[in-house]
Amino acid sequence: VNLGLSVGPLDSDGYHELVTVFQAISLYDDVTVKIGNEGAGITLSASGSTATGVPLDETNLAYRAADLMITKFQLDSDIDIHLEKEIPVAGGMAGGSADAAGVIVGIDSLFELGLSRDELERIGSELGSDVPFGIAGGTAIGRGRGDQLTPVLSKGTYQWVLALSNSGLSTPAVYGECDRLREGLSIAKPSANDALLQALRAGDARELGKALSNDLQSAACSLRPALRLVLDVGNDYGALGCIVSGSGPTVAFLVEDEERALDLTVALSASGVVGGVVRASGPTHGARRISSF
Ligand code: C5P
Repeated sequence: VNLGLSVGPLDSDGYHELVTVFQAISLYDDVTVKIGNEGAGITLSASGSTATGVPLDETNLAYRAADLMITKFQLDSDIDIHLEKEIPVAGGMAGGSADAAGVIVGIDSLFELGLSRDELERIGSELGSDVPFGIAGGTAIGRGRGDQLTPVLSKGTYQWVLALSNSGLSTPAVYGECDRLREGLSIAKPSANDALLQALRAGDARELGKALSNDLQSAACSLRPALRLVLDVGNDYGALGCIVSGSGPTVAFLVEDEERALDLTVALSASGVVGGVVRASGPTHGARRISSF
């Protein structure tokens, strides 16, 4: 989740300069990387609760990650990738980037390349702005396109409830809507939110809840007005903070403890305005090897 997402003006290359504070949370996909059948090239399959609609060709960032690793390290192998998906697709939670991060870490391990975290993150940044953080995990500020990372001091563990949507939002469409809504205004350079960083340093969930902010939220709500109803449910049930995650449409609610998380989960499920509800905590680690066969 982006605890803070400050979006600068549109640059000439069609992108916006960002300052964002990322927190890795415990909602993850399992990525299996194996040597594939000879001559098969890169093969990609997916299963799991959010696998519907995941592209299984070279448009998938996980596929591109394997392709990049093969080229970079001249790997003379076919690679078979399986994604067990729990992260929503096109949900504003960098699920595709997390999978690419998993593939990079998996190939490094499978071929015993011995790459450092810095090298892994640098390779990740060639694929997409969110991939380096998918490798790093924890809590970090991302500058530039969000890929220039600095770790952030963060105390404690935070409890999240995530309201998922049945259909995704297009990232370029949300940035485009943000530009449209800000037309004629003078847009400041993006900046880090000091109150947010102070709350993280102090481990103060209540202050963090107040400091959550996302410059893309109005645009996501403008394209998907039902998101305002979702945000209202969280406010009514006493969430410490409610925020559209990244470019949406997932909404993240920060809650005080597991009991409140359960109450809000029930309320959201009963509200009829969400596609699904999951709970998670953060910060947690980035992509890492959990087993080998
Ligand atoms: O990073 P990604 O390629 O997914 O971004 C998709 C689109 O979102 C970009 O083509 C651009 O229109 C918009 N975008 C942006 N500024 C960013 C990131 C994305 O305008 N920092």
